[in-house]
Amino acid sequence: MEKVVLAFSGGLDTSVCVKLLQDKYQKEVITVCVDVGQPEDEISRPERLARDMGVKHYTIDAKDEFARNFIFPAVKANAIYEGYPLSTALARPLIAMKIVELAKKEGAVSISHGCTGKGNDQFRFESTIRSGSSCDVIAPIRDLNLTRTEEVDYAKEHGIPLPSDKLYSIDENLWGRSIEGDILEDPMVETPEEAFRWTRSTEDAPEDAQILEISFAEGVPVAIDGQKMAPVEIIEACNQVAGLHAIGRVDIMEDRIIGLKSRENYETPGAVLIITTHKALEQLTLTREELKFSEIVSQTYAELIYNGLWHEPLREDLDQFLDSMQRRVTGVVKVKLHKGNLRVLGRKSPYSLYNEKAVSFEDKDMDQREIAGMVKNYALQAACYQEVCKRE
Ligand code: ARG
Repeated sequence: MEKVVLAFSGGLDTSVCVKLLQDKYQKEVITVCVDVGQPEDEISRPERLARDMGVKHYTIDAKDEFARNFIFPAVKANAIYEGYPLSTALARPLIAMKIVELAKKEGAVSISHGCTGKGNDQFRFESTIRSGSSCDVIAPIRDLNLTRTEEVDYAKEHGIPLPSDKLYSIDENLWGRSIEGDILEDPMVETPEEAFRWTRSTEDAPEDAQILEISFAEGVPVAIDGQKMAPVEIIEACNQVAGLHAIGRVDIMEDRIIGLKSRENYETPGAVLIITTHKALEQLTLTREELKFSEIVSQTYAELIYNGLWHEPLREDLDQFLDSMQRRVTGVVKVKLHKGNLRVLGRKSPYSLYNEKAVSFEDKDMDQREIAGMVKNYALQAACYQEVCKRE
């Protein structure tokens, strides 16, 4: 029998896939779960299920790689798509790369995923698989055009254990938690409190504010209150503290790749804290021209990631540009967290472009009179235009 490697989360879709791949596609199934920072039970559950179903299973720890090679570049780019600090989208290419490696090792001819034909993840997985291997892709749920109810029926029929208490479709990794489906499909329905795990509500957040100093080196966070931390560690710490203070809930209407609008909820406390402070430091250290251009880079970078184009050369080109521009984004940002509010209190950097002396009202060295000529001719084209209008 030919081997297929299946990206396995232990959820309904992928559990159904195991059985379908065996029975309908006549394959020997190998399952794999790539750890990008999901909760412990999302690692142990697929292990247990695979054992019960008698298939060979791998768990691959990719947390550190995810933090260093995916999240940190996204921080340098301030990668946010339509208000969504990219998390699921950012992890997909890494997960797929790990699966491709495993498929090669196992001599598998196919790779399989449980994505439906309506979402974004099918694009993200398959673009990576196709640019990294010659394996063919099997997407059973999409192939068979299955609905969720049909999947549940199939699972019951074949004795596949259903994930219990899961109301929503949830995807979690180190950088964020996304919540969709069920009652949230009605955009007017307020997201119930029980949908959230990482963030407290404003009401439940502590009465007392907390002040923090986040240090950055060359565009990435390296310490909190002077205490140095490894990438995974600092991201986790930022999620904890910002989540406690009710920061990082996002509720948006999102435009999917195929054009469908969908209602998405995210919990991204660490991402909001880190990107907000990163931007504050950029304002101090980058020139006006750099800041203006980095807005365009940010938008393009976020779209490439959202659209599953991690392997597009432009993404690599932009990374090089960002590495160069971020060399001076080193320093400290002081912030206050309080009941859903995140306020920048201060910033400092050895590369600061702020000239406190020159901007001061008390300074005489920068001779004001020298600027008069510059001001006089400043809006020359606007003045000409107004003249032309008067003539008409
Ligand atoms: N809409 C988001 C994205 O495309 C999140 C999708 C996550 N999947 C989920 N099952 N909740 O990146």
